Amino acid sequence: MYKILKKELLSPNVWLYDIEAPRIAKKTQPGQFLIIRTDEEGERIPLTIADFDRDKGYISIVFQEVGAGTQVLGQLNEGDSILDVVAPLGKKTHIEKDMGTVVCIGGGIGVAPVYPIARGMHQAGNKVISIMGAKNKDILILEKEMRAVSDEVMVTTDDGSYGIKGFVTNALQQIIDRGEKIDEVIAIGPVVMMRSVVEATRPYKIKTVVSLNPIMVDGTGMCGGCRVQIGEEIKFACVDGPEFDGHMVDFKGLMSRQRMYKDKEKTESDHVCN
Ligand code: FES
Repeated sequence: MYKILKKELLSPNVWLYDIEAPRIAKKTQPGQFLIIRTDEEGERIPLTIADFDRDKGYISIVFQEVGAGTQVLGQLNEGDSILDVVAPLGKKTHIEKDMGTVVCIGGGIGVAPVYPIARGMHQAGNKVISIMGAKNKDILILEKEMRAVSDEVMVTTDDGSYGIKGFVTNALQQIIDRGEKIDEVIAIGPVVMMRSVVEATRPYKIKTVVSLNPIMVDGTGMCGGCRVQIGEEIKFACVDGPEFDGHMVDFKGLMSRQRMYKDKEKTESDHVCN
């Protein structure tokens, strides 16, 4: 059992949990994810690991209550325990020194998994420019944390309530237009956002890494649920990813599989709520 040490509301319906898991915290690297099951009947929920503290022995997750599984998770409190946490899963982010200038982009709650990556890049001595996007100021998360690990932070809001009015790609274009040499872009957020980032960098041939979040069931490469097309190949996000070269990703296929899943999730959510 894994005890919830801290529960914090980051923005409406978005929770941060610190979970006691010393052995997982020791092994976790930026970019990896976990699969959580709240109880025997609970569904398996894949979530990127938002943070980890090896000394204090905990990992952090950030999730939004969007479907049946995350609603049940959101009802737990500090001191409650989670039945299963399988982690760390997937490959770690490629981080090393002398990578140059890295633009770390997080959209919505995608800022959470970007945070340990930005921190890792920064600790390795790279220049980190972070772009954080949200619909409005009230739902922007982890700004203080991102500022602490970035050389520069740009914020965009869809409604202009804070920072640049527009999308993360508007901020990215500003960086490109000012002649900054960008060595790598890492983007995590809604699939449409990642696709837009990839299309923005493609003409400039800037290496762009995205972290995919397809349907995951077992997280071990056995069920095929998380398959994604990368160039000519079929890959499994759980074992081959979750990060991939964004310029090779078949976003159309990914989006249509996600739509199928969302319909099913909505049906189950209605069942939980009614
Ligand atoms: Fe089953 Fe990846 S989640 S193969």
